[in-house]
This record gives sequence, structure tokens and C-alpha cells, in this order.
Amino acid sequence: MEKAAVIGAGVMGHGICELLALAGLEVTMVDIDEDILMKGMESIRWSLGKFVERRRIREEDASAALSRIRTSLNLDEAVRDVDLVVEAVPENLDLKRSIFNKLDEAAPQHAILASNTSSLSITEMARATGRPERVVGMHFFNPPMLMALVEIIRGDGTSDDTVDATVDLVEKMGKTPVVVRKDVRGFIVNRVLGAVLNEAFWAVHRGEATMEEVDAAVKYKAGFPLGAFELTDMIGLDVMYEVSNVMEEAYGEVAKACPLVEKLVKEGNLGQKTGRGFYDWKVGRPRIPFRLAGKFDVQRLYAVAVNEAARLIHEDVAGPEDIDKAMKLGTGWPSGPCEQGDKLGLDVALEKLRELHARYGEEAYRPSPLLEEYVGKGWTGRGAGRGFYEYG
Ligand SMILES: NC(=O)c1ccc[n+]([C@@H]2O[C@H](COP(=O)([O-])OP(=O)(O)OC[C@H]3O[C@@H](n4cnc5c(N)ncnc54)[C@H](O)[C@@H]3O)[C@@H](O)[C@H]2O)c1
Repeated sequence: MEKAAVIGAGVMGHGICELLALAGLEVTMVDIDEDILMKGMESIRWSLGKFVERRRIREEDASAALSRIRTSLNLDEAVRDVDLVVEAVPENLDLKRSIFNKLDEAAPQHAILASNTSSLSITEMARATGRPERVVGMHFFNPPMLMALVEIIRGDGTSDDTVDATVDLVEKMGKTPVVVRKDVRGFIVNRVLGAVLNEAFWAVHRGEATMEEVDAAVKYKAGFPLGAFELTDMIGLDVMYEVSNVMEEAYGEVAKACPLVEKLVKEGNLGQKTGRGFYDWKVGRPRIPFRLAGKFDVQRLYAVAVNEAARLIHEDVAGPEDIDKAMKLGTGWPSGPCEQGDKLGLDVALEKLRELHARYGEEAYRPSPLLEEYVGKGWTGRGAGRGFYEYG
């Protein structure tokens, strides 16, 4: 691949351009707003400068990358002779379908059309084109320059060649690809992370713990880099709300969205970016007291993460290695849910889910058939020599 275009120069688009240019591709960054293109170029210059300053890249490589990036307001022209397009416009299926339709008409037949969507269907976008075999999901994490993971999503019609070429390119960019074998909503990371965050929201909504207690357990007991509420504030409550709705639409009661998030969104409290979300960011970063770490049962979070991982394996979306790799690189968790489940004991996780299911009657806690099967076979984890993984 030599030439690419990125459609949308916002939070994600300009970072993706920077990565592609550093990997040696000529890239055109496209937007409908000239100011955003200028800001995108400024951010790229600033970021490359920082990487040079920290001796992560050489100055001449940064200048060469910069010279490979152009900007354009004209999508048709920008994609006329490309080998790859990465779409990074706002998360709206109608908008994305119309862009894919235009791309299909304007880009050469051989070009791969990728979407950076966080939650929407790749298969649906592919249907707006005459080349579903060359449409693929390429889900970068924010900020793309710093986050090591890229989920590569196979739509129903995506060909092996397209997946292989995308994997090669991601590796060339110095990132770790994880192939998501089925086009399920939330892919891997947002499925597992969503289940854990939802558990945190519902626990507070039901009055079982305060958000500081949950966040203290998440940070100091589970060792996650950020508390659940702290992270949600940083992602943005509006983004979380949209993703939760997509997940609830796809999975029903299992992914029932928590009213806590909707309430804040309606009040206009969208998190760090508006100065107020779950926490008040005007007074600085949330202080989460260590002394509260023992007040919330962190095993509940592990149990829902393990259950979601088991569901993904059961649905043949990914295997345990890929799920663990994706969760560690995509979220900074110290271990993946399958490793964690094997360590904790799958029987312990199952018991916890049954207890929660009996107490609340919520579908979110219904154990995955795969988890039941493993425990039934005595595959309870590391101690038994077999769980999600086999131990020699
Ligand atoms: N922000 C994140 O943390 C994150 C992480 C992973 C994936 N994503 C996904 O990446 C995509 C982009 O998200 P973002 O946060 O960068 O959004 P953003 O709003 O920051 O940027 C989107 C850009 O697209 C431009 N745009 C709108 N319509 C256009 C059109 N018709 N043609 C060309 N450009 C157009 C907008 O002007 C804007 O600059 C979404 O699908 C989102 O779900 C976001």
C-alpha cells in the first residue's frame, strides 16, 4: 500500500493520518471543515515534535512523514488513486453509509475501504458499496499514536486477502492487530469493558456502593489504570450513552443501559470536556481515596468480565489469547479477563454470577453456557490445569 486517504480529521482522523504517514504512505486528510483540517495538521506537527523530543523517532523521519500528508475538502479527488481509505467521521450509520457509497464510486476498484467505527456494523457499511469483500473495520484507540491496539473487524463479506493486508499494514505501523472474527456490536474491547462499566454503574444506581468506593476498588484492588467513573468521564458521557444504546439495541436486557449515564447527558454534564460528569473536573483530577478500596467486592467486576469473555469465545468472535491481548492493550488492564478468570477460578466466577443473578434477576448476570460447560468439565482454571487456557 502506497497511498491512502483518511476521511474526517477530528479526534481520531488526524492521529490515523500521522501513523499512516510514518509508515511511509502518502496520505490525504479529508474533512468538510477547513479549520478542522488546519487544526489537524497543527496537532500532527505538535505530536511529531514530541516524538522527536522524546527520541522515539528521528527528526528526518518526522519531516518526511509530514511531507507525505496533504489536506483536502474534496473527497472524490482525494481518493481517486488510493490503495486504502480509513473513514473516521462521526458515529452515525446513515452518514457512514453515504460516505462508503461515495468512496465506492470514487476510489479505485482495488482499494480497501476501512471504518474506524467504535460500535456500528461493518457489514451494513459494506452494503452501501459494490465491494463488500474489500470493506473492513479498523478500530484504533484514542490517541492512535500512543495506543498499541487496532481491532480489525471482519464484516460478513470481508475477504481473507483484505484482512491479511490490513493486518500487515497495522504491523507496519508498529501496532498490534487483533482480528475480530465476527462483526458483533462492541467488537472485543467495548463488549468486555462495557460489561464491567455497566456493572459499576448499576451497583451505584442500586445504592450498593458509592462511585468513589467502586473506583477505589477498581484502581487499587483490580489495578486498572483508571476508576470506572473516572474513565467514563474521560471518554465522555455522550459517547458512553451512544455506545450503551447501540449495545442495548443489539443485546437487549444483557446490556441494559444504566439511567445514571442518561441523566448526566440530559443535564449537559458530559465529563472532563464540560468540567463535570460523575466527578467535578473543575477542581482537578478526581481524588479517589485508597482507604475505600475494600468497600466494593471487586470479584463482581471480574465475574462479569469473565462472563463476557466466555460469551465472545462461545460466539466464535475471538479466542482467549486475542481477548486478553485486546483488553490489556486497549484498556491498560494488568491482565486479561481469561487470565484473570483462570487465576480466580472459573467456578468462583460462576458462583458469583449465580449469586448476583439470584439476587437481582438481571440478564447481565446469566452465566454464559461456555462458562457452565467449562466448570462442569472441571476446567476451573490454573489450579485445575485447564480453564480458558491449558497449563502444562
Ligand atoms: N474519540 C474516540 O475516543 C474514538 C475512539 C475510537 C473510535 N472512534 C470512532 O472514530 C470515529 C470518529 O470519531 P472522532 O472522535 O474522531 O470524531 P470527531 O467528531 O472528533 O471527528 C469527526 C470529523 O469528521 C468530520 N466530518 C463530518 N462529516 C464529514 C464528511 N461528510 N466528510 C468528511 N469529514 C466529515 C467532522 O468535521 C469532524 O472533524 C467515530 O466513528 C468514533 O466512534 C472514536
